[in-house]
Amino acid sequence: MCIPFEPKNIIVTGGCGFIGSNFVHYVVNNHPEVHVTVLDKLTYAGNPENIASLPKDRVELVVGDICDSALLDELIPGHDAIVHYAAESHNDNSINDPFPFLRTNVEGTYRLLESVRKYNIRYHHVSTDEVYGDLALDDPARFTEQTPYRPSSPYSSTKASSDMLVRAWTRTYGLRTTISNCSNNYGPYQHVEKFIPRQITNIIDGRRPKLYGSGENVRDWIYTEDHSSAVWDILTKGRIGETYLIGADGEKSNIEVLRMILRAMGRDADDFDWVADRPGHDRRYAIDSSKLRRELGWKPQHTDFAAGLKRTIKWYVENESWWRQAKAATEEKYQRNGQ
Ligand code: NAD
Ligand code: DAU
Repeated sequence: MCIPFEPKNIIVTGGCGFIGSNFVHYVVNNHPEVHVTVLDKLTYAGNPENIASLPKDRVELVVGDICDSALLDELIPGHDAIVHYAAESHNDNSINDPFPFLRTNVEGTYRLLESVRKYNIRYHHVSTDEVYGDLALDDPARFTEQTPYRPSSPYSSTKASSDMLVRAWTRTYGLRTTISNCSNNYGPYQHVEKFIPRQITNIIDGRRPKLYGSGENVRDWIYTEDHSSAVWDILTKGRIGETYLIGADGEKSNIEVLRMILRAMGRDADDFDWVADRPGHDRRYAIDSSKLRRELGWKPQHTDFAAGLKRTIKWYVENESWWRQAKAATEEKYQRNGQ
């Protein structure tokens, strides 16, 4: 039987980004005994506003780079665990300029692992289902922990590389690690470069939403709070050295999601533009999360996608000041790419 791990002081890297900040909210709201140190470089994707409402005695923000080993030496002693979210996370950016992805996702993970080795601290590595490549639209299969790695984009290849480093450091040096690979998240605080927030904010701004390629590509959507609860369960109850896939049975084609957004916002379901496809665009992701459910008793709470989408739309409508500053520059970048 596995003895539950009960961390009191954790470091969350990338805790000012979309999923990292949602995880920090989840920990503060559900685990009053835990203090969180957020380590975040505050790139274009990191926003301290995401955690500004949380009590200062529960959450401390340290602005810095995960590649800075001297900073890690200063920071890590006194903590029980690192939950590693920090990454360059957007596929389109990785196609235009891969180098920052190599640096943060590969070198950054290497630097963290070396510190984890030095201080013998528990480490959870947050990864993505994209490391498995894609599935055909009509393939009955879903990804499992046994699916071979076959990443397609510069982004997913750097995430796959970082997973490999974690596995090698665990086996060679006996580190106490776990890895999770999750499907597409949606919810509050997601940058307007990503599919769902981009379309919602385009509609608010009176622009037409933009759909890549044929719109048939399928993503397996999970509400971000469900990702947070799964990561918490893996950190505290997961078996050391194991990988767990996280998903909520939320497969939908992009055109289906876009039409749901348009209808929910009172627009005609065909009121969008077809734009240039993403090079190497993965067709379909689908997660079989039965290992996580069976071993750790996890299950998602937000399985009504239409309701989650409405809540997300409401959040962007009510929090225009949060996304306004990033919107124009994001759209200029897309326009330069014909998207
Ligand atoms: P995001 O781009 O919204 O946030 C990334 C955060 O990391 C930002 O706050 C940024 O400032 C910080 N950061 C970047 N480089 C850094 C560095 N060198 N040092 C310190 N901080 C740095 O990303 P996200 O969508 O929240 O994704 C978080 C993690 O979850 C990533 O590892 C990603 O691969 C993984 N993931 C994302 C999804 C998804 O749907 N978005 C799904 C599965 C897994
Ligand atoms: O599967 C998990 C991954 O999900 C994470 O690892 C990544 O960090 C995260 O960004 C996300 O990757 P995707 O590439 O699937 O997400 P994105 O929001 O960029 O796009 C979702 C789908 O929508 C994809 O098929 C491309 C399409 N798309 C995207 C944009 C921005 C459009 O059709 N139009 C758009 O304007």
